[in-house]
Amino acid sequence: MSSAKRIGVLISGRGSNMAALIEACKAPDYPAEIAIVISNRPGAPGLEMAAEAGIPAATIDHTAYPSREAFEAETDKALREAKVDLICNAGFMRLLTESFVDQWRNRQLNIHPSLLPAFKGLNTHERALEAGVRIAGCTVHFVRSEMDSGPIIAQAAVPVLPGDTPDTLAARVLKAEHELYPLALKLVASGAAQVQGERVIFADDSVAATALFAPQTA
Ligand code: GRF
Repeated sequence: MSSAKRIGVLISGRGSNMAALIEACKAPDYPAEIAIVISNRPGAPGLEMAAEAGIPAATIDHTAYPSREAFEAETDKALREAKVDLICNAGFMRLLTESFVDQWRNRQLNIHPSLLPAFKGLNTHERALEAGVRIAGCTVHFVRSEMDSGPIIAQAAVPVLPGDTPDTLAARVLKAEHELYPLALKLVASGAAQVQGERVIFADDSVAATALFAPQTA
């Protein structure tokens, strides 16, 4: 029997990070498998990609529920029915209540396209360019109820190049996201990265060294 951790992926749209996780899970020694993909938006392109990969894909349309709690209860039920061990938010655009976040504490990951704690929230790349930073990047972290907060698992640095627009920077960061998320999930699913206090500690220094990188982007 496989000891791979069962993953529920929450999406809202395109699903390219979800696709990167699906791809990573194909490796026989990868310590996780995708059990279910759930979108809160009907027709999200990622749903079709998941179905094509043979992964159960569900829509739980938040607009069909009378409250945030009711939507989350349905999402929680679907995740539990799929026997999910860990949740990966991948472009999931809903804020979650403290109650949901607590239920999945240290078992829910998110990816954000900045070097947190800088540039939380939306329009990240636009704000990074306005601020004139020379290094952008992305972060995978455990989820807490405050938006884009929580113990940091892994980060990738990405250079800002002269002439960058929010779109060109976003595209460069997205490439790094697709490497970083599978790496971070591997560290968590294998037990090599764990939360202690409100920080992540690693099994050893060599594992810690893999949790930060600057991809070649020239
Ligand atoms: C990514 O940049 C992710 O970091 C952010 O939203 C975007 C989602 O892209 N939270 P995708 O749906 O994974 O393609």
